Amino acid sequence: MLKTIPIINNKGGVGKTTTTVNLAAGLGREGRRVLVVDLDSQGSASLALGVDREDLEPSTASVLFGEKAPSDVIQGTATRNVDVLSGSLRLADADTKLSSVDGRENRLTQSLAGIEEDYDTILIDCAPSTSLLTVNALVAADAFIIPVSPSYLSLEGVVSLGEVVKNVRMSLGEAAPVLGVLITMVQRDDEQTRAIIDEVRGHYGGKVFDIEIQQDAAIEEAPTHGQSVFDYAPGSQGAEEYQMLVEEVLDRLDRYGSVYDTVRKKQARRT
Ligand SMILES: Nc1ncnc2c1ncn2[C@@H]1O[C@H](COP(=O)(O)OP(=O)(O)OP(=O)(O)O)[C@@H](O)[C@H]1O
Ligand SMILES: [Mg+2]
Repeated sequence: MLKTIPIINNKGGVGKTTTTVNLAAGLGREGRRVLVVDLDSQGSASLALGVDREDLEPSTASVLFGEKAPSDVIQGTATRNVDVLSGSLRLADADTKLSSVDGRENRLTQSLAGIEEDYDTILIDCAPSTSLLTVNALVAADAFIIPVSPSYLSLEGVVSLGEVVKNVRMSLGEAAPVLGVLITMVQRDDEQTRAIIDEVRGHYGGKVFDIEIQQDAAIEEAPTHGQSVFDYAPGSQGAEEYQMLVEEVLDRLDRYGSVYDTVRKKQARRT
């Protein structure tokens, strides 16, 4: 089973949080029990799922710093079947706080060990950095999703995306696959955008999800209402496109899940 999936890209503003939240909500609507782990000190995924700002603490930081058990920190959300380990400002201290801790890269993996059974899928919203938190997400990963935005990507950028993928894979070892590269925030279908998208597809082939998420006002507005695009604007183009992503993800989880023996890998990591 590929269960733990970080949404990762060291570039900022490429749709990581938006994808985490809407994919979580979409999987929840399909009856999957989903946990969102918010590893961003901004707490944007938590807020987008309707957590009040004053409820961001206790947070993922409390768990990683060994102060609280995950079960005492996880909160339910108004989004069906979606729970959250909230992000908070204290996550900004993680590099310092954990620097002298043994096994600091495994903190998240160990924290999730006790609650994994409660969920079908655990999505991790990563900050745009290569901090210790991101390393923790990589170590905990069974597979990962890489969102890219052609508006933020030049043709040369496609190559540096390759570096991101390679580095991520190297830190994970061969066992954890790229579940998919998601082309998102597509602003307009002009020649330049199309050329970049074609380049990404040429480079990454079948790894790229078929669906491309267009720029859509409903997707952008939904978080300020603490809702996913499905609840905020059912029937919007954004909801339709994220639903298609949900179907592709479910299909890939089925197909890849049998190929990769992640259970063994995880057990090895914990010992
Ligand atoms: N398909 C879309 N249509 C319109 N707006 C979008 C879409 N996807 C994301 N956005 C908006 O673009 C901005 C950046 O998206 P998001 O926060 O998901 O990126 P991120 O990669 O998580 O950023 P960061 O690296 O800062 O955490 C947000 O304001 C979000 O609402
Ligand atoms: Mg984000």
